[in-house]
Amino acid sequence: MTDQIKVDKADGILTLILARPDKKNALSDAMYKALADELEASEQDAAVRAIVIRAEGDMFTAGNDLGEFAAANAGGSGPRNVGRFIKAISVASKPIVAAVQGRAVGVGTTMLLHCDQVVLAEDAQLTTPFVGLALVPEASSSLLLPARIGHARAFSMFALGEAVSAQDAVAWGIANKVVALNELAETALAIAKRLVKQPIGSLIATKKLMRNAEAIGRHMDIESAEFGARLRQPEAHEAFKAFAERRAPNFTQFN
Ligand code: COA
Repeated sequence: MTDQIKVDKADGILTLILARPDKKNALSDAMYKALADELEASEQDAAVRAIVIRAEGDMFTAGNDLGEFAAANAGGSGPRNVGRFIKAISVASKPIVAAVQGRAVGVGTTMLLHCDQVVLAEDAQLTTPFVGLALVPEASSSLLLPARIGHARAFSMFALGEAVSAQDAVAWGIANKVVALNELAETALAIAKRLVKQPIGSLIATKKLMRNAEAIGRHMDIESAEFGARLRQPEAHEAFKAFAERRAPNFTQFN
């Protein structure tokens, strides 16, 4: 159990709250486990008709815990539940609403591609700096992001780590709307409340029709194999060391 994921269930809505603000909600293995457990359980839980994901603190999440990536690079098993989480969110049959303030880094952005409604605060910034960490995209984002926003924009995000503003995220079809920060949680909740009133059978069937789950799952497996291999490379070691030392990485030392 971790207290860094808060869970609330009321009135047909399961709310999952990232609650590790002192570490910018960086996602640890324990947090992935809690999220995966809740998402998996929600599939069989008739009391859940919609899901909200939001975060405490000044940003949605700084992405995967880089200390755990560094441990994997040093020969450890690596975070084991991240795969369970991205699988669970990608196959979730019930609608998911995300509320994002501040930065959403890495999996913080790629998980949004598996949400059905995304509300952003004005200060939201979406980044997927996988290449800058000597890694590759995950959560099927190398399939879903170019499909959503086009190859050129997606490549800038993956390869150059370019941030997408809240306004651009809406214009490019990643998110639904931008609201003031103090209206973020209530806006997401209001959408979830509307979804709860809809016929659940139609909702689930519509979501299923809109997503090619088989292709998404297959692509995720290919990405995961590449990601796991990259995670253990010397280039990744340099990336994680540079983050810990608060300096820019030097990748030109590698051929
Ligand atoms: N993993 C582990 N710890 C993280 C983290 C991460 N992904 N992101 C932030 N933290 C920790 C910092 O180490 C720091 O811990 P400390 O107070 O013990 O020193 C704390 O959270 C606050 O982070 P800080 O960098 O001081 O905040 P900031 O507002 O200046 O910068 C970010 C925020 C998100 C820009 C910056 O933390 C960052 O770049 N993080 C890494 C993002 C990343 O590459 N994620 C992986 C994507 S796959």
